[in-house]
Amino acid sequence: MKLFLTLFLGVFLLASCGDSNQSPAVEQSVNATDLYLTRCAGCHGTDGNLQLSGAKALSASTLKKEEVVSQIKMGKGNMPPFEGRLTEKEFDALADYVLTFRAK
Ligand code: HEC
Repeated sequence: MKLFLTLFLGVFLLASCGDSNQSPAVEQSVNATDLYLTRCAGCHGTDGNLQLSGAKALSASTLKKEEVVSQIKMGKGNMPPFEGRLTEKEFDALADYVLTFRAK
């Protein structure tokens, strides 16, 4: 029972995180890590290097920040476009986050 409750709560929390993107009218602070993990890690992995579905290793990317933003918006190949699904602030935060995977 306890396990079930924990699972249920976990799913509920995840679902409510996803929903927060549905109301861009509400000004919220952007959590780039959460965004990346829910929207991008499925193909790119938590460290940017998973390369699932032909995804490129983000640590090896040489795109400029503006190009990263536009690729997230427009998509490319197997990568879906996120235009209209995220706010400008979120695109900006995600691009910054993606750049942190590069040579440290
Ligand atoms: C369904 C899988 C999938 C998801 C989800 C996905 N990507 Fe991608 N991504 C790809 C693929 C495939 C490519 C390679 C596209 C190509 O060049 O053909 C790619 C390429 C990229 C590149 C370009 C790398 C380079 O140097 O060319 C960036 C940056 C990127 N993704 C960021 C993101 C971000 C940020 C998210 C989340 C908002 C995301 N991706 C979500 C599959 C995905």
